Amino acid sequence: MSEESSSVTASHRWLIRISDVFVDSVEEILQQLEATTSMKLGHEYYLIQTVNSDAVRQSGVSLFLRWNLPIQHSWPCHPQKMENFVEKAAQALFLKFGHLNPQTILVGQLNPNPSHIYYKGLASNLRGRMLQLFPSLKESKLDVEEQNSEAPTLFCLVGKEGLFCGMQSPKECNGLYPGGTKYISQSSPHTISRAGAKVAEALHYLLMYRSALPVDSAWLELGASPGGMTSELLSRDYRVTAVDRAPLDLRLNKERKLDFIRSDVATLQLREGTKYEAMLCDLNGKGQDSIKQVIRLSKHLKKNGLVLFTLKLPSVKTVQESLAVLDSVVNAAAVAGLYLLAKTHLSYNRHEFTLFFEYQSARF
Ligand SMILES: C[S@@+](CC[C@H](N)C(=O)[O-])C[C@H]1O[C@@H](n2cnc3c(N)ncnc32)[C@H](O)[C@@H]1O
Repeated sequence: MSEESSSVTASHRWLIRISDVFVDSVEEILQQLEATTSMKLGHEYYLIQTVNSDAVRQSGVSLFLRWNLPIQHSWPCHPQKMENFVEKAAQALFLKFGHLNPQTILVGQLNPNPSHIYYKGLASNLRGRMLQLFPSLKESKLDVEEQNSEAPTLFCLVGKEGLFCGMQSPKECNGLYPGGTKYISQSSPHTISRAGAKVAEALHYLLMYRSALPVDSAWLELGASPGGMTSELLSRDYRVTAVDRAPLDLRLNKERKLDFIRSDVATLQLREGTKYEAMLCDLNGKGQDSIKQVIRLSKHLKKNGLVLFTLKLPSVKTVQESLAVLDSVVNAAAVAGLYLLAKTHLSYNRHEFTLFFEYQSARF
């Protein structure tokens, strides 16, 4: 490897991603992680060093980390100014990780902004070259969503600050893509609201925990208007009972698999015995109030039924307050037999989190 390169194997160096939504809380989050040094990289990434090697995944504030990677190899350099960057980087990574048999190699950009297009090509070329070098990967090129969420992948991020790599499972990283974001176009004429991207990303994220619900599964959707999420569910061939006190977008009028109930969710009564495979709740208002409606209606979920819940945090400002609301929502749900499967801040979430529950059975 050339003299410009350096590599470090220390499990306590991490690349973490914190959404810009929480930019005012970064200092508090880093303090909670007991991060000793930090350097901002690209868009939303921080290179940190922690005293405790488990802090990133086990601290309460891990909820605020969109994605994380232990950095086992780094090459701080300006790739655009380096000669043969791809070949040198690929050879060094092969030497270091070749014998560790990652299930696949994924390379992303530290700054996915279109003005950094050069790095998109670089990431793709680097991945291509590494797939040629790693013998076990020559034949089997896994798609991102085909990864075993519990097996280590070699993730690399590249940008004008250099190359940062580590091996970890997608589940531990908190996302199947490097950086965690699956890009979802919101510019189609069929896009009804930006909330559609949230549910598309949530369903992608959920693949790390359970397989996709089969076609024709029935969803109960609370807080559906104008219908961005509804249209995403329908596009997957699910059946949807959507509830809102406001109307749905007219483009959904002729949907065969949609049943719309215009009502206040608080007074909604469903026919005895009606069962759903999944519930989606995107009600605005306090998370503690919305979860009460989910709990009240959870008797209509089948066993192992899924709940996809947007935890909104109106008027909640600090990290500690957010975590307190999260705790109260998760505890209330658990008493009703709704067990937390996963929690995250998705790229398409704003000041809110997405929680995933599974319905076992009520304890009372
Ligand atoms: C964030 S918007 C939902 C966006 C929607 N999920 C989408 O994909 O376009 C929240 C919705 O919750 C509805 N809502 C809030 N409280 C409600 C209640 N008690 N009963 C019925 N609808 C309610 C509002 O009318 C609003 O349409």
